[in-house]
Amino acid sequence: MSVRIAPSVLSADLGRLREQVEQAVAGGAEWIHVDVMDGHFVPNLTFGAPIIRALRRVTDQPIDVHLMVQHPEHYLAEFADAGAAVFTFHPEATVHVQRHLTAARERGMLAGLALNPGTPVAYLDEVVDDLDLVLVMSVNPGYGGQSYLAASTDKIRRVRAVLDRAGSRAALEVDGGITAETIAEAWGAGADTFVAGTAVFGAADPARAVRELRRRCAVLA
Ligand code: DX5
Ligand code: ZN
Repeated sequence: MSVRIAPSVLSADLGRLREQVEQAVAGGAEWIHVDVMDGHFVPNLTFGAPIIRALRRVTDQPIDVHLMVQHPEHYLAEFADAGAAVFTFHPEATVHVQRHLTAARERGMLAGLALNPGTPVAYLDEVVDDLDLVLVMSVNPGYGGQSYLAASTDKIRRVRAVLDRAGSRAALEVDGGITAETIAEAWGAGADTFVAGTAVFGAADPARAVRELRRRCAVLA
């Protein structure tokens, strides 16, 4: 299994978005993570399609979109057209989860489901064949810069077991509080894709920060 680092532009200096993304990519970042928040599903407001379009012009790396919004399906077509490569939403935010996962694939995106710290892993059983990605939230979503919740490690292990049992090749992404100190624990539990906001864009040298995150996994490999 190889490590994929997905820096979150939530923590980037948006006045220097191009430069910040180029720095992260120079350090080896595979995906660029975009946190979409609507002020309802989470208490914060962030980005919509314009930033996805802007990023598409800045980098060739896949844009990994994480929707923390009610009714994510309303944005499916617009985000696909804007250039989103991954469309991940929370099951509590909509009724017809399976339908929207399928629709994301039909639009040419990878279909992802995000589990909040309080959302049971059992949710995956019903839709495992419809998933290209599972996102384990290791903080309660809404803000960058929070601390990794220790219980996330066991949850990653249980998600890994569900995916392996089903013969799924879905990515297992972890999001929230990922730093050089916490990444190895999540990697050891079976995660392969790591969102990092503060740890990358809060660092003086984002390229070096991305390299350091990957190195911490390699030590365990
Ligand atoms: C939290 C977001 C995260 C956030 C992570 O609601 O989903 O993607 O950007 O930020 P850090 O890495 O600072 O915890
Ligand atoms: Zn996120």
